[in-house]
Amino acid sequence: MNKIVKKEKLAERIYRLEVEAPLIAASRKAGNFIIARTGKLGERIPLTVVDSDLDKGTITLVVQEMGVSSKKICALNEGEYITDLVGPLGRPTDIKKVGTILACAGGLGAAPMLPIIKAFKEAGNRVITILAARSKDLLILKEELAANSDEFIIMTDDGTEGKKGLITVGMEEVIAREKIDECIAVGPGVMMKFCALTTKKHNIPTMVSLNAIMVDGTGMCGACRVTVGDETKFTCVDGPEFDAHKIDFDEFLLRLGGYKDQENVLLENFEK
Ligand code: FES
Repeated sequence: MNKIVKKEKLAERIYRLEVEAPLIAASRKAGNFIIARTGKLGERIPLTVVDSDLDKGTITLVVQEMGVSSKKICALNEGEYITDLVGPLGRPTDIKKVGTILACAGGLGAAPMLPIIKAFKEAGNRVITILAARSKDLLILKEELAANSDEFIIMTDDGTEGKKGLITVGMEEVIAREKIDECIAVGPGVMMKFCALTTKKHNIPTMVSLNAIMVDGTGMCGACRVTVGDETKFTCVDGPEFDAHKIDFDEFLLRLGGYKDQENVLLENFEK
């Protein structure tokens, strides 16, 4: 049982939770995630470890209410407990000094992006971050991302904050004016697909962090499989980060939506 010591609303249906998990806090690295479960028969959902506090023995998670399980976690209050957390899982981000990094975060992707850019900054890279969302109300972690970037750009589809346009418009502008050594994209699957297509045109090595459906998180069930090049990889143990130019995004998107009908039925029953 892991106690929630702090809960904060970041945006409509998006919460930041600080949760007691001293062993995970002590060993997690950028790119790692945990699997959380609420209730003995609860579904297991992967969540990125956004930050940790070694003195308090806590980790920070950002959760968006989507399906039944994330709604159950978001309904918990300070002082209440998540049934269990397993982690840290996944391979840490490959952090090295490469020069200038273009970090592209879409919507909730801001949360996994934060520890990644922090680590790239600490390794001596110049970090240009683009945070994009449909609208102003969906932009999260602006201050934290800006504080860990050399340059910070906001894009919204509807122009309610920052520049108006899709994230790829902002990417093209940055790429046109300076040399980018590596790009990282984290966000909705479709966004990552188009970020990858953009950087492929310019031959910029690109990494994405995939938010695959997961069950065990330890490489046994195969739920998180993805095709990378001509190989099948498991996101939980081989990822979550992969070479964006080798991923079969169409298959990935199809698999992500594979349980939508069942999820909707569960959600309807939950909300009755
Ligand atoms: Fe089961 Fe990755 S979640 S193999």
